[in-house]
Amino acid sequence: MCGIIGYVGKEPAAPKLILGLKRLEYRGYDSAGIAVRGKEGFSVYKRKGRVSGLESAKDLTGGCGIGHTRWATHGEPSERNAHPHIYGKFAVVHNGIIENYRELKEECRARGEEFASDTDSEIVAHLLAFYDGGNVLAALKTVCARLKGSYALAVMCSDGEDALYVARRKSPMIVGKGETGLYAASDVPAVAECGELYSLADGEFAVLKGGDIRFYTAEGEIRKEKMARGSAEDIPEKGGYAHFMLKEMYEIPASIANSLVDFEENSRFLAFNIVLCHTEYIQIVACGTAYHSGIAAKYAIERLARIPVEVTVASEYRYCNPIVKENTLVLAISQSGETADTLAAATLAKERGATVAAVTNVRDSSITRIAHFVLYTNAGREIAVAATKSFNAQLALLYSIAVALATAKGRAARFEALRVLPSLSAQTLAGIEEIKKVVPLFAEADSVYFIGRGADHCAALEGSLKLKEISYLPSEGYPAGELKHGTLALIGEKTPVVAILTQRALAEKTMNAVSEVYARGGKVLLVTNIPELAAREEVFESVLLPACEELFSPILSVIPLQALAYYTAVFRGNDPDKPRNLAKSVTVE
Ligand code: G6P
Repeated sequence: MCGIIGYVGKEPAAPKLILGLKRLEYRGYDSAGIAVRGKEGFSVYKRKGRVSGLESAKDLTGGCGIGHTRWATHGEPSERNAHPHIYGKFAVVHNGIIENYRELKEECRARGEEFASDTDSEIVAHLLAFYDGGNVLAALKTVCARLKGSYALAVMCSDGEDALYVARRKSPMIVGKGETGLYAASDVPAVAECGELYSLADGEFAVLKGGDIRFYTAEGEIRKEKMARGSAEDIPEKGGYAHFMLKEMYEIPASIANSLVDFEENSRFLAFNIVLCHTEYIQIVACGTAYHSGIAAKYAIERLARIPVEVTVASEYRYCNPIVKENTLVLAISQSGETADTLAAATLAKERGATVAAVTNVRDSSITRIAHFVLYTNAGREIAVAATKSFNAQLALLYSIAVALATAKGRAARFEALRVLPSLSAQTLAGIEEIKKVVPLFAEADSVYFIGRGADHCAALEGSLKLKEISYLPSEGYPAGELKHGTLALIGEKTPVVAILTQRALAEKTMNAVSEVYARGGKVLLVTNIPELAAREEVFESVLLPACEELFSPILSVIPLQALAYYTAVFRGNDPDKPRNLAKSVTVE
């Protein structure tokens, strides 16, 4: 989603802004821009498309500037809608959504002001100009008090000394000190060179000036602690792989190993174990890939612990007036910990009395401030927009919770069944290039279907999502039994159908669906751990998975599906790391 970078220091700002924006590219965007303060006011460069289009701005000399990658929400992706937005002596970049921008715009128009873009963000520059009484921080505080919605803002003023003013509400913003100057950014990789970083909380402001950073709330100046620095700030490297997505898939075994938790053994989770003992209901809220890991968790928890689990897309949960009974545990799953809908759903669940546990991959992300408990997946930073290793890591952690819940309820469940998953995933990965042989069939298809029953349903949904995200092929995932209730009408000569079949007890039932596809000329790719099924005549191609505890098989079966999406995207000439229109973390509603 949108990215912010700001620099004020001894060296020219432009190259630093462009480098910072490049490091934010992975978040997904459709236009980019920078503004640098010079003697004659601001120099502004904006481009639709990639950050590389800003290279011609590299020679600007000013030492104070702001930059932005925009993911369009209000107004089409275009140069005029790209940030920074300038009005009067103010330049502004903004992440988030200003929900009351229409009425604020009307107010400005009534004063005779004209707008240069269709965005909600431009209003901030107009309001700053209106409330400016010579003190930029005071004006920014007044403006923020008038805004509804979410924002991370970085502001520059064309007069006075070189300085940046930043603010945050419900959208991440960090500031830091580097060797040559001060930085502001929406995300850590953009400012990897900073020795000291500080994360702003909602309602906080910072002023970066004269080599110093000062922090404020609406009430007055405050002191802030430095952020603890982990591996998260590492500058992303492809490490010899063609794309981050491929590299991240090869990191799946490590991400599973690092995310398995034997809750019983680990005294750090004592308090969480006590919650598990009292849990009678579970609700899972999440979006996208994280929602699919919630579906896998439902199967595992209900089967092992016999506790009812409801999985709801977070954007629905927040508006469905959810019923939260006593002793409800809510698992809010979010790789980034910043997805606006998941944050809102977790907040609502907490207000209604649930115990909220966040499952996230990002230390100190916003969801960690909402949840009562934070359970980290340790997949390492994921750069490709399409989630891969973080999904497998989520499954590892959620299966660990299922085992812990079962144990807490006095039911038999063995953590040992999980310990083998890293090595089984490595075996699965060793064969992924095999999938390339079906890629031409998929790459030319009009539409693709994924089917699976029981635990395999989650893999079908996730396999389909991966394919649609990066290959842009229309694709759907279904419970195998649903095929005949509509989708069969779409199966014709050569329609590719991926059947995931790892549950022995359900094998013949899913094979019925495979036969129905075959009878209509469809081509079935079977992903299974049952060798004899692969030999059936209805099967066009197959991928054989290593045997594992059936309930946990999605953690393996999804791997060839991730590979199918990756190789199909590459075959079709798409950049799998930066799919069009999509963002890594969706920080707006
Ligand atoms: C975006 C990403 C998806 C991701 C979803 C939820 O749509 O493109 O890959 O699954 O957000 O993200 P989260 O960070 O909350 O898991």
